[in-house]
Amino acid sequence: MSTLQPVKKSNAKPRINSAFKQLMSIHWIMASCYLILFVSGSSMARLPDELFFRDPVYEFHKSIAIVTVALLTWRILTLLRVWWSKYTKRPPKLTKEWWKTFALHTSLYIFMWAVPVTGFFLSNSYRSNNVKFFGILVPDIFPQNSAIVGIARSSHFWFAYTFLAFILIHILMQWKVVRANYRRFLGFVKANFAKA
Ligand code: HEM
Ligand code: HEM
Repeated sequence: MSTLQPVKKSNAKPRINSAFKQLMSIHWIMASCYLILFVSGSSMARLPDELFFRDPVYEFHKSIAIVTVALLTWRILTLLRVWWSKYTKRPPKLTKEWWKTFALHTSLYIFMWAVPVTGFFLSNSYRSNNVKFFGILVPDIFPQNSAIVGIARSSHFWFAYTFLAFILIHILMQWKVVRANYRRFLGFVKANFAKA
């Protein structure tokens, strides 16, 4: 949603303020949660019913997803602070590049909200009182309805993997950052673990 472009002019004010730093901290915490959710989700959906750790994995998946919903609220509030401090000083230049980033980030925000909603839709329509947050029962949002479990399952499946496709596009667009972090990581490994 935010389109925080790198500052190009040397005399321009740096964009790294405390709200932006906070936004990026939430960004990395949430990115780690999504990694856990995609790994747990795609593996648990393929586990045999009788496996003893199947239920705890489902509960873990739902609990981490609820954490991301809470973090999303905090992220939106932080994003509004970043926008306020940035765009009240200087409105954005509405270039093609700006609109492209805006569209991609807005889509990511919509998915961050819609994917957990379809998860609740699936769990609640399958059985009432089916969602727990680390053992604490979470009230139902949707009614139990076995007739639509198939639709609910497909909606969670398609929303989740389309979200993943958008994340991959975003990662490709941030490829320079991925490369820089990878090099930093290699440097750290060499400095600390390479044989003298
Ligand atoms: C390896 C994984 C990732 C990398 C390297 C990465 C990199 C970045 C970078 C460098 C920015 C700042 C762009 C700027 O404003 O200059 C950014 C922003 C953003 N990223 Fe990622 N990202 C990753 C994963 C994700 C994931 C999993 C999501 C899930 C939704 C995501 C959503 C966003 C959004 C919405 C923004 C705009 C800032 C905000 O509103 O938080 N990113 N990303
Ligand atoms: C951003 C949040 C979420 C992500 C990224 C996510 C991702 C996934 C993925 C990738 C799958 C595997 C689908 C498949 O391959 O069949 C899955 C399955 C599942 N998810 Fe989520 N999920 C999220 C939130 C939730 C929430 C909030 C709930 C319930 C409250 C939930 C309940 C389930 C259930 C019950 C399954 C198993 C489906 C089956 O057995 O076929 N998910 N999720």
